[in-house]
Amino acid sequence: MDKQDQFSLSERRLRLLGPGMRQFYDFPFHPVSGQGVWLVDGEGKRYLDAYNNVPHVGHCNGVVVEALSRQAAALNTNTRYLHETILDYAERLLATMPPGLDTCMFVCTGTEANDLAWRLARAYTGNDGAIATRHAYHGNSTFVSALDCSTRTPERPNHWLATVPAPPDGTSPGQDADAYAGNFDAAIAALATHGHRPAAFYMDSLFATDGLDLPASGYLDEALRRLRAVGGLCVADEVQPGLGRTGTAMWGFQNFGIVPDIVTTGKPMGNGHPLAVLVTRREIVDAFFAGDRYFNTFGGNPVSAAVGLAVLDVLEHEKLSDNARVVGSYLKDGLGKLAADSGAIGAVKGAGLFLGVAIVDPVSGQPDAGRARRIINEMCRRGVLIGLTGPASNLLKIRPPMVFARSDADFLIDTLDAVLKAG
Ligand SMILES: Cc1ncc(COP(=O)(O)O)c(C=O)c1O
Repeated sequence: MDKQDQFSLSERRLRLLGPGMRQFYDFPFHPVSGQGVWLVDGEGKRYLDAYNNVPHVGHCNGVVVEALSRQAAALNTNTRYLHETILDYAERLLATMPPGLDTCMFVCTGTEANDLAWRLARAYTGNDGAIATRHAYHGNSTFVSALDCSTRTPERPNHWLATVPAPPDGTSPGQDADAYAGNFDAAIAALATHGHRPAAFYMDSLFATDGLDLPASGYLDEALRRLRAVGGLCVADEVQPGLGRTGTAMWGFQNFGIVPDIVTTGKPMGNGHPLAVLVTRREIVDAFFAGDRYFNTFGGNPVSAAVGLAVLDVLEHEKLSDNARVVGSYLKDGLGKLAADSGAIGAVKGAGLFLGVAIVDPVSGQPDAGRARRIINEMCRRGVLIGLTGPASNLLKIRPPMVFARSDADFLIDTLDAVLKAG
């Protein structure tokens, strides 16, 4: 497909989906196939995918495709019949969780998992307030999108919601866990002025949209103690860090040394197939079902469960969490060396295979979102896909499939170096 065809595809998209459904880059990008960490566009050009966490174990992974096809050819049904695969999958997942987190509820997306977490938390605690970090993103339903405070204006407050700053990075100086916990006292007090108590605190265990600062193990203990003292539950949103992405743990919350009350997952679980799960304690599920009912037509159907199991198999057999640690730290070191040479890099953040490169104005040192956007466009033109995140939209988001190799890291670093030098 040539450039002209790509532009007509863009026009067709605009006409049929409307302008709100924006494309990623400032120009059309039209991948037609994928394999491992590589995407190929309609003209046969190859792109290194250093952005997509959905194909967790690699684009079109053969083991996953085979498992999906085999189960799809045998049976797919709604989720109220008996089937072994979902139980095998639940057992495998629960074996990775801390003791006490003993019950799975299957859904299709991270949004659904976080939305359901809210219903459970309200039922169990009897409270109706929420706490979230200031620039959190947890999904797109009416309730969950309201947690996204970065898009709320002061004229449209939700009185049932209070925010806390994301915790500081474990490497930053002047760590004071008690002072940080004071933010929870303030949030709890703010809710109380409107007659609410917290049912849940939502936490992305990578604090990605908050800027990718990761607290040290133990740092959150006091904050969670104060939350729990007034009945609130901790919901760990593992959509980003889950399945070993940080390289040091299967689930991101394990890096902080905490045990959440509810764990929600999404994107990477199905390697592109819509599969997500909420894991919690049985007593919390029981409290919910005492007064409510829940049915999810597709959540955990036999095909989804077969896919989820295949993803876990590949993750384990190929030791991809170890790969995230080894290649992630190699990549982080390489990006750090670029930072030493380039005034446009303020910091390199993150863990494992979720890294952020803060782009700043070389003169003022201030976040430079415009420059960051130009960089991701130019990286794409040169065959590397990365994205943007962070409160100031200046953090280059590097979050590739977990099969990312050292040679891929080299290509990314060399390309970024060339883009920065080209100005
Ligand atoms: C941290 C986090 N939670 C939840 C979601 C929502 O997941 P989904 O788009 O599958 O509903 C996302 C999506 O980007 C996310 O990044």
